[in-house]
Amino acid sequence: MRILGIDTSCDDTAAGVADGERTVLSSVVATQHDLHAAFGGVVPEIASRAHAERISVVVRRALADADTRLEDLDAIAVTTRPGLVGSLLVGVAFAKALAWSRGIPLVDVHHIEAHAIAARADHPDLAYPYVCLVASGGHTALYACRGPREIERLGQTQDDAAGECFDKVAVLLGLPQPGGPSVSRLAADGRADAVAFPRHRSGGEGLDFSFSGLKTAVLYYLKGPGGRRDAPHRADLPVGLADVAASFERAAVESLVAPSLRAAAREGARDLVVGGGVAANRELRRLLAARAPAGLAVRFPRPGLCADNGAMIAMRGAELFAGGRVAPLDLDVDPYAGD
Ligand code: KG4
Ligand code: ZN
Repeated sequence: MRILGIDTSCDDTAAGVADGERTVLSSVVATQHDLHAAFGGVVPEIASRAHAERISVVVRRALADADTRLEDLDAIAVTTRPGLVGSLLVGVAFAKALAWSRGIPLVDVHHIEAHAIAARADHPDLAYPYVCLVASGGHTALYACRGPREIERLGQTQDDAAGECFDKVAVLLGLPQPGGPSVSRLAADGRADAVAFPRHRSGGEGLDFSFSGLKTAVLYYLKGPGGRRDAPHRADLPVGLADVAASFERAAVESLVAPSLRAAAREGARDLVVGGGVAANRELRRLLAARAPAGLAVRFPRPGLCADNGAMIAMRGAELFAGGRVAPLDLDVDPYAGD
């Protein structure tokens, strides 16, 4: 079964082709980091305009890379929720037009549910049920995935998403966006035990996350107590910036690891699946593997399938389509789904 997947939920224009639920044939992502860099965050209007300019080229490339013609497609899957409304609309309008003009069935996909199955491409034996941590720039949550249509949220962040926290700390450290990779690169030269940043304890046994206290702790450490974001770093900083980056990264990662392992234990899971941009983090991969108890396998997607991509939309679409799901052509977007 050949499926084209399209994702324009945020600032990446992405398309990919999958052969069934587990095999990625292509994945093409046009990032917009350069367009938003000067604004310190994603500007929705710029994002949707760039999607409109790029989507046709990105989809053509994804089909060509997969050696697939439009007439070979069994279905077209597209992200309808959640995301930026104007961005989502570009992908959905494009997918609808393609589906209608060629008589190809359309399948609507929830972006977070696609992150939750991205690891499948690299773990052929992965099967339901499992517990999943999705940590991205917009979401950080734990799910019990019991079947294709039985996905229950167990806990989520009370404030910032993990990736958002990396992005904000990158700004404080004067590093480029996206913050995750740039903070990680600097952290590689630092000591993770140099600064004792706080970990969110989530009331002992909770399955929720919080990153705003950690973000503020880094702010006050760099600028002095009560310091403002745009103030210069304090002159008497006791350690180097690489040490601050490494200590922050360790605290952020430990704040993700503890609730995830608790959720896996509570659900009696044999597999803990990780997805979302933050799943690319090396320290998260190392620490989760090191702390997982015997009998719990931790499954990460390959780095290229962690952040937003169309291949995961295609795989999730294949799974839903195989289960009989087809979307009507008056399909709408749902920007706040799952919030
Ligand atoms: O899944 P994604 O591409 O977009 C959303 O759906 O939000 O995730 C992007 C987020 C950004 O916040 C980025 O800084 C973070 O993932 N990220 C990382 C790493 N690579 C990307 N965070 C920590 N470590 C990384 N290596
Ligand atoms: Zn995402």
